[in-house]
Order: sequence, then structure tokens, then C-alpha cells
Amino acid sequence: MPSDKQINGETERLFSKLEKVGWSKSDCELIAPLTLEINQLKKKKNAIILAHSYQTPDIMYGVADFLGDSYALSLKAKETKADTIVFSSVHFMAETAKILNPRKTVLVPAVAGCSLAESITADDVRGLKKAHPKAAVICYINTTAEVKAECDVVCTSSNALKIIERVRQKEIIFLPDEFMAKNLQPLTKKKLIGWKGRCIVHEEFSPETIKEIRKGHPKAKILAHSECSPTVIKEVDMMGSTKQMMDYVDTSKAEEFMLVTECGLSDRVRTEKPDKKIIGSCALCPYMKKIMLKDILECLKNPRPEQIIDLPSEVIQKAKKSLNRMIKLSQ
Ligand code: 13P
Ligand code: SF4
Repeated sequence: MPSDKQINGETERLFSKLEKVGWSKSDCELIAPLTLEINQLKKKKNAIILAHSYQTPDIMYGVADFLGDSYALSLKAKETKADTIVFSSVHFMAETAKILNPRKTVLVPAVAGCSLAESITADDVRGLKKAHPKAAVICYINTTAEVKAECDVVCTSSNALKIIERVRQKEIIFLPDEFMAKNLQPLTKKKLIGWKGRCIVHEEFSPETIKEIRKGHPKAKILAHSECSPTVIKEVDMMGSTKQMMDYVDTSKAEEFMLVTECGLSDRVRTEKPDKKIIGSCALCPYMKKIMLKDILECLKNPRPEQIIDLPSEVIQKAKKSLNRMIKLSQ
């Protein structure tokens, strides 16, 4: 049991971050015993907690050791010396950590899917390869391990264009995000063959909303994730990954920003860059938001079988080649 002094200290630590996203001191006091226990267990078990920027602020600022986009988190998972990686994010990202660092124990606090990862199977990829035998297969990181195992190279939203340009082939099966393929097509001379996957979160944004925001805030910069529809991308100042959006906010002289993406990223800007003002609305990813502090504690204490990432070694071997190729081509 933590002492009153420990609870008070932890409450203050949490409040210094979370007040920027509307948490009260008593909200922080309520979760303080939980974050204390998680952080103690983390040390005892030599574990690291990696969290995606779409996680809730209590996870991002209460217990995470590293926050990032899917690419930065993959690199961190590959390099870590910790014995255990707790991946606070959706399932495909935790699988990626296991593929890149198979000797580590990789834990995922809740079984959370992703509409893009669920849109395509390894069989579908084999069908596409048969139909386009000369094409390179680039698969977005938002895919299952079995799908990655069928691809030539993986990409993320932060390096997709670079990978497209650096593979030898002129024809590319780019899967599974239909919108991302359409958004990238005008930026390359290569031919992209898409798939019908969509992110249920980003497809909800409309160009009308962006136009409305522009009218009311003509000096604001509007940034969108590349999973948004091409009609939305046409209206914005910048398209990129979550990290690229954070970097843009960092270096831009503008004072107001709309982040056309999941709400976690706006929470990060409000917490880490309080002099920048976030305007407009964001959207919640039901998969990302499935993970709660209590799940992190549970998997660190005594993981249930579904919280432990376990993949067939053949899948690991094949998918690892596609992931390592992405890392090589991104440099
Ligand atoms: P990032 O790589 O930009 O973090 O994107 C991951 C994702 O799932 C976006 O919806
Ligand atoms: Fe998948 Fe979209 Fe959620 Fe990202 S925001 S994890 S792409 S459903």
C-alpha cells in the first residue's frame, strides 16, 4: 500500500501534466495508486511501456516510457534492452514489436483491432500478387503479421512515399488503405494498385467541416493524417503521420492548429506545447481507446494468454524481412 506522502507526490506529478487536458486534482488522486503500482512493477520486471499518441492522457503521461507514431515505436521496440515490452496500442503494433524483437516478452493490455488491419487477409495478398506478378508489394504497417509476411516491404504513414520511390518496380500493390493510395498517387510517377481498406476514424472527416473551420480561423494551419479521404486532403495545409503533424506544430509560427486525426494527438499538443492552440474537432478511435490503466496493471502482474503476443516462427521470419527492409529503405 502506498503511503499518503507517495499518493500526494504522484497526484502532483500527474496533475502537472493532466490539468492541461482538463483533469482535476481529485481525478489525478483517484488514479495515483494505479500509476504508482504500474511504475513500480515496471522497474521490478525490467519492462518498458511504449504508447501510441492515440492513447488516453493518463496512460501517455502517467506510465508510458515512450510516445510516438507507429514507425518510431517500432524502432524503439527493436532497440530496447528491457526484458518485457508492454505495447499500449492496437494489436498490429504489438505484433510488429514481437517480430522485430522476438526474444522479448511482448504484452498487449487489451485485444484491440484496427479496421485497416481487418480489411485484408494473407490470402487476399496472394490473390493480388497472382493478378499483378510484376508489381512490388508494399504493405502499410496497419496489417496483421500474416499479411506482412506476404509483402516485400512494410511502410508507415511517415515513410510511405520514400519506400514507393526506393523500391525497384514501377508498379506497386499498395495495401490496404484505399485513401492513402489515392493520396500518394499524385505524388509519384509509379502506378499504385490499391485495396479497399479504410480507417473508420479518419474516413469520418469531411471537406465541409474543414472549410467551415477555415472561414472562422483564416490564419490557422490545418493538418491531416494521410488516412483521410482525398477530398479532405485537398483542403488542408499538410498531410502526414502523427509524428510529422507534431513536428509541424513544433516548427510552425502559426498559433492555431486543427489536427484532422484521432483526439489523442490533440491531447499531446495541449499537454506538451501549451502555447499552441488546438481548434476544431477530432475523432476517437474505439480500438485505441479500449486500453485502460487497469489493463496495463493486469498484464504486468499476471498476463492472460491473449495479452501475450505469440506468433509462429515462420511468420516472424518472413514478416521481419519486410519490416527490416522498411527500416533500411527509410534511412
Ligand atoms: P501513425 O503511424 O501516423 O502514428 O499512424 C498510425 C495509425 O493507426 C493512424 O490511424
Ligand atoms: Fe486503425 Fe484508424 Fe484506429 Fe488507426 S485510427 S488504429 S487506422 S482504426
